[in-house]
Amino acid sequence: MTPETILVTGGAGFIGSNFIHYLFRTRKGITIVNLDKLTYAGNLRNLEDLKSQESYHFVHGDICDSGTVDGVIREYQPDCLVNFAAETHVDRSILDPDGFVMTNIAGVQNLLRAASEHGVSKFIQVSTDEVYGSLGPTGFFMEESPLNPRSPYAASKAAGDLLALASYHTHSLPVVVTRSSNNYGPCQHPEKLVPLTILRCLQGQPVPVYGDGLQIRDWLHVRDHCAALDLVMEKAKPGTVYNVGATCERTNLAVIRKIISILQEALPDGGISEDLIQHVTDRKGHDRRYAIDPARIRRELGWSPSISFDEGVKETVLWYLDHQDWLHSAVSEDYRTTFRNIYGRPYDI
Ligand code: NAD
Ligand code: TYD
Repeated sequence: MTPETILVTGGAGFIGSNFIHYLFRTRKGITIVNLDKLTYAGNLRNLEDLKSQESYHFVHGDICDSGTVDGVIREYQPDCLVNFAAETHVDRSILDPDGFVMTNIAGVQNLLRAASEHGVSKFIQVSTDEVYGSLGPTGFFMEESPLNPRSPYAASKAAGDLLALASYHTHSLPVVVTRSSNNYGPCQHPEKLVPLTILRCLQGQPVPVYGDGLQIRDWLHVRDHCAALDLVMEKAKPGTVYNVGATCERTNLAVIRKIISILQEALPDGGISEDLIQHVTDRKGHDRRYAIDPARIRRELGWSPSISFDEGVKETVLWYLDHQDWLHSAVSEDYRTTFRNIYGRPYDI
């Protein structure tokens, strides 16, 4: 289907705001409605340039609130809903999981109910490879891999996925679930590894590495993720799950070292070096390795990633260097407190 009006939930966050920009760049004649609660992770600066565009509407609201969601769907009659809204930080979910259960489970169910009642023609639940749990040194997550979430964040996302697929089976809601690997790119909150490393290096502060730093993540540039979601919106068969990943495994230490080398090149007098790397107590239940097999989305939808890790990380680091005010604006008192709680010591930020 080619949707005309798309309801994006959680569109003020990292991937959602990139997705909205991606759609306006690549599609003509669409209207986008962005429903976002603006938690600490939502940032309207990400969408500043769209503020006065007639085909873009922002609604400040919570996906858990049935009146709000029904009202938005009634008013704008979207033919497609893409749900990005979620609590997303694993460390926060370990400290305080309640908000994760609320938004990632009850909120998703509320969206599914409303979409079903109002006859929305496609519902895309944006999810994560973390629902599959942790891999040993070999093997890949397939769509058929058993769900084995190991953090409260991953468990809440797995529950959201299952509710979404249940709505397809019981109410014939045309649901598609996508599970992507770790994203990087512009506008990511600096609680996550890539922008956190950049911010700490720019401040001349230690970069905290959990445990031995040899945990592996499979990195995907956010624009490649957006391209995949665009194809899913257009072509995916309801009731299907798609893994999205660029087959790009790196240890956390390798990612941090790469960022440091790009910063050193960009700021030769910046005093940035690998001496900033500081090993800290490991995350509780830290998943060792994630790796996606993206064969299904390649085969069925013709998607493939177009941005190599080296070029993507360089572009990303340079974006944050050019937008240091954005980076600093994401740092709040709440962020400082959470940081202290996560790392178990005062960490200047
Ligand atoms: P993010 O934390 O940057 O943004 C989340 C957005 O959701 C914010 O704008 C926030 O204000 C909004 N939100 C939170 N609770 C809400 C609620 N109750 N009602 C309305 N809006 C609410 O997240 P992100 O990194 O952009 O991730 C987007 C989605 O993609 C999430 O569902 C996440 O699980 C999934 N995902 C992320 C990654 C990644 O690497 N970032 C990887 C795979 C999947
Ligand atoms: P993160 O960006 O939080 O994403 P996720 O936990 O969803 O994969 O973390 C990426 C990896 O980096 C993960 O293995 C945890 C690690 N990490 C650190 O070593 N130090 C940090 O300060 C953070 C935030 C993450």
